[in-house]
Amino acid sequence: MTDAQTQLTRRRYDRLAPFFDLLEAPLEGLRLAAWRRRLLARLQGPRALEAGAGTGKNLPYYPPGVEITALDLSPRMLARARQRAARLAASVTLLEMDVQALDFPDQSFDTVFATFVFCSVPDPVQGLRELRRVCRPAGRLLLLEHLRPAGRLLGWLFDRLNPPAVRLTGANINRRTRENLEAAGWELQRAENLAGGIVWLLEARPRGGGRAPEPAPTGAAGETR
Ligand SMILES: C[S@@+](CC[C@H](N)C(=O)[O-])C[C@H]1O[C@@H](n2cnc3c(N)ncnc32)[C@H](O)[C@@H]1O
Repeated sequence: MTDAQTQLTRRRYDRLAPFFDLLEAPLEGLRLAAWRRRLLARLQGPRALEAGAGTGKNLPYYPPGVEITALDLSPRMLARARQRAARLAASVTLLEMDVQALDFPDQSFDTVFATFVFCSVPDPVQGLRELRRVCRPAGRLLLLEHLRPAGRLLGWLFDRLNPPAVRLTGANINRRTRENLEAAGWELQRAENLAGGIVWLLEARPRGGGRAPEPAPTGAAGETR
């Protein structure tokens, strides 16, 4: 991870913020809303953390009785989330923060969750490691993510298409999030294939319950995470 990549991600989402909901509206109606509901039905309190809350599209599905803190890197995405929270009279604490460097004590939350975030976090393993640090040993991680397909041909194709996809949207389409979870000290408990082996609902728990593993040496050039 470099600061420059994180700044670039922030600028990308700041620029995208005014159009984000509009761009996703068709897919939101077709599939996303149902997937969000499915993930949030699994949330357990009393305290939960949403990483990369964006414009706050999960807010309508937050379960009652759970104290939720939601963060995002982009101030402009967050401004939209604040407007949505006010409209819905949602009880949530919204903070500008980088998931790669969380400003919370260890073991602060019972559930940590994110939807379609780890495709754009510059160092996803570091972000997942931080989520593990702030998650209680008996807590859970819930993710909705699109992943690199398992098939050799499709995987190869997604690797080839990834550079233009990143340039256009800021999102990597070939992230190996299952492997990243393992590397960050999570143990995968459940993986639900929601769409074509590409969109997944993942549930994991902290492996071991001790401290998160030390950072691994930086991968070889061109290696995808
Ligand atoms: C594709 S959007 C998804 C937003 C929202 N979770 C949703 O489901 O609509 C990705 C979000 O992740 C945020 N993000 C990317 N890198 C981040 C980081 N390092 N820390 C916190 N948020 C980050 C972006 O600012 C953006 O709002």
